[in-house]
Amino acid sequence: MGMSLISVHCFVLVLVLQLAVGNAGNVSFDTRSFIIDGQRKLLISAAIHYPRSVPAMWPGLIQLAKEGGANVIESYVFWNGHELSPDNYYFGGRYDLVKFVKTVQQAGMYMILRIGPFVAAEWTYGGVPVWVHYVSGMEFRTDNEPWKHYMKKFTTYIVNLMKKEKLFASQGGPIIMSQIENEYGYYEGYYGDGGKRYAKWAAEMALSQNTGVPWIMCQQWDTPDPVINTCNGFYCHDFTPISPHSPKIWTENWPGWFKTFGSMDPHRPVEDVSFAVARFFQKGGSGNNYYMYHGGTNFGRTAGGPFITTSYDYDAPIDEYGLPRLPKWGHLKELHGAIKLCENALLHGKRTNLSLGPLLEADVYTDSSGLCAAFLSNSDNKTDSVVKFRNMTYHLPAWSVSILPDCKNVVYNTAKVGSQTSVVDMVPEDFQPSVVSPDEDLKALQWEVFLEKPGTWGYPDFNITGFVDNINTTKDITDYLWVTTSVYVDEKFLKNSSSPVLLVKSKGHAMHVFVNQKLQGSASGNGTVFPFDVKIPITMKAGNNEIALLTMTVGLPTAGPGYEWIGSGLTSVEIQGLNNKILNLTEVSWDYKVGLLGEFLDLYKGEGLKSTKWVSTANPPKQRPLTWYKVLVDHPSGNDPVGLDMIHMGKGLAWLNGEEIGRYWPRKSSKHDACVDHCDYRGSFSPNKCSTGCGEPTQRWYHVPRSWFKPSGNVLVIFEESGGDPTQIRFSKRRAAGFCSLVSEDHPTISVESWTTATEETHDKKATAQLHCPSNTRISAIKFASFGNPSGACGSFSQGNCHDPNSASVVEKICLNRSKCSIELSEENFDLSSCSGTIRRLAVEAVCS
Ligand code: GAL
Repeated sequence: MGMSLISVHCFVLVLVLQLAVGNAGNVSFDTRSFIIDGQRKLLISAAIHYPRSVPAMWPGLIQLAKEGGANVIESYVFWNGHELSPDNYYFGGRYDLVKFVKTVQQAGMYMILRIGPFVAAEWTYGGVPVWVHYVSGMEFRTDNEPWKHYMKKFTTYIVNLMKKEKLFASQGGPIIMSQIENEYGYYEGYYGDGGKRYAKWAAEMALSQNTGVPWIMCQQWDTPDPVINTCNGFYCHDFTPISPHSPKIWTENWPGWFKTFGSMDPHRPVEDVSFAVARFFQKGGSGNNYYMYHGGTNFGRTAGGPFITTSYDYDAPIDEYGLPRLPKWGHLKELHGAIKLCENALLHGKRTNLSLGPLLEADVYTDSSGLCAAFLSNSDNKTDSVVKFRNMTYHLPAWSVSILPDCKNVVYNTAKVGSQTSVVDMVPEDFQPSVVSPDEDLKALQWEVFLEKPGTWGYPDFNITGFVDNINTTKDITDYLWVTTSVYVDEKFLKNSSSPVLLVKSKGHAMHVFVNQKLQGSASGNGTVFPFDVKIPITMKAGNNEIALLTMTVGLPTAGPGYEWIGSGLTSVEIQGLNNKILNLTEVSWDYKVGLLGEFLDLYKGEGLKSTKWVSTANPPKQRPLTWYKVLVDHPSGNDPVGLDMIHMGKGLAWLNGEEIGRYWPRKSSKHDACVDHCDYRGSFSPNKCSTGCGEPTQRWYHVPRSWFKPSGNVLVIFEESGGDPTQIRFSKRRAAGFCSLVSEDHPTISVESWTTATEETHDKKATAQLHCPSNTRISAIKFASFGNPSGACGSFSQGNCHDPNSASVVEKICLNRSKCSIELSEENFDLSSCSGTIRRLAVEAVCS
């Protein structure tokens, strides 16, 4: 036959009646889709938050998103990173928004700018500057004049900045839509009539900005036309916008989830992500944004929560360090390719829905010219099915969608992952002593330390009876607030006493207790319950006892009704057991000091690095609380991304060359948490469904961007709160140790890549395993190869009872020394007589170097 499968729908001209088109310069929309420069578009969008990486990474991340099949980049705008105090704006470094949008433009992609300016995003205070809370009469996110004033002012500032740089599509730029507010629909009720008025005001204020491109509001069920209401969630196929004129847009499709210190490590299987996306497009969706496509890092103190980890990896298609996460990135790339093959039919055809059985359906897009694309889905979470569609039979695994760009041949099934997988390691590297010191005052090969003393340093900032709120007091210029007092204990009381215990109640977030300069214990809330109520045994002496509580925030709340009023800090302190009584310290006089002495001295940056307070030592103290460490190191060799291994440290902050790496805390999750060895992707996902890492530190490695390193003389500064061994700190390089492919005989035989050249003959081709090394590397070894019924996952494959003994030599012959290779599951390569009757698989693990 040899006829091109796709010739049928190649030259199709469709005239579609455009319904109620929104007017926004060259970007408009109707109920079916966005229309850009007169053309209907499906939008595959990748969320990459600019301050969660560094400018040196932006072009690579954006390119990788494009290569992964995205045509849009999305980001929030981070108000508290930009307006540091009223009218004091910052757009440098990671906050160079204009540069970021221009990088997207240079990559030939569109941009969705979610201005907010309230954004949530697991970002401290939901992105709102803390000073805003202290403006008189302020109440966030309701019909409140001060809030509306500052919100409008910042929104206008950003819009004007974008206009000045001609970045809106209406001006020839990449920005095709903007968002105002964020998921306000959840909270509107809480704010009563004020909430309703505010939502309306926000939409009108946005429209009055005249950007020439549409505005959206997500999870907002009373959005007024022409503002588009959009959907956020793990699934959005059932979503219908409230206006009949709006297209179906999914602003937040979560391909993973975030972490809090002390929690497990959540994973969302790619089979489920792709199922959700395919279902969305099957059901008429026209824009999908992966939140996040690259999660990145909460550098410095930008993590919110409280307790959100410094890593914002999110199990996203691009990992925190900028490497494609495989197979997630690859399987989604193929999905995007498959959807793209259907784009014409989806956007210009008419949809018909057919039932193929219970939980089995087909959505078919056709037009009068013969254009046809179909999505066949099986939403049963357990049972595979064989369905009949247009006189052909199709095997549909449970919880999967098959995509047929010509209504006949399956190019993609969401449950059949053909993309290669990788095993990624963090390879430790010893600190290299710095060869050249950048400054004579900084001595190479040496540690320097500054020992911070527990308690108020210098003069107290103030002294009052009772407790204050931490956030009201620090205004978030630091995490730390010292709260100190002294307690006189009569010798005879001590004799009559059982061991004294300090009882502390706090709104959160964390605290270290020092008595007479010695650390007695620590306490903290967690990601779900911020407050804590603890009993810490303490050692006291006769006479005066100095009680010094280092209280702290660990990222400010990010969302929720009235979240800006959620306080932090002590509410009650008592000592139990002295003379067998309770000594209430809640109503005594306390000294307060905001921040640490080391912070005041700027020990981690600029001139502070040369401070005479630093003392050289060959043996830095171990397990000593409140210690600042400084060491000069060379940059790690090679080009792999770098993480700082802090497993041997307690809790604190880290900087490299004055750049803020962020909070570290190798806090462990409970080993009794619900982790899984194997995740069943079938059935609805929730963040705790497929977690790993129970009993392990939630975060061990901390990303240090390569661009922060100098050739030599790099200054690493650590502030350790509770005690650790700094000599065990290591840089580790993130590297894929192996690449794997696992393909079974029933895998779709026409790949997205080969679709346009596919013929009926190629349809008979055998399934093929593919391996692809990162640039400048080749396949140097085959670690595992088995054709038969191998089991396990990449990095731990094992042979089954059926195995072709020539598997390894065949794969070696085809793949060794190549940068990529394809191995057909054919008679020429393998002994197909083995285990006939079962579906055989080929598993390969290769090393690229
Ligand atoms: C959404 C919110 C996002 C982010 C996400 C979870 O509700 O809009 O900003 O917080 O949840 O990662």
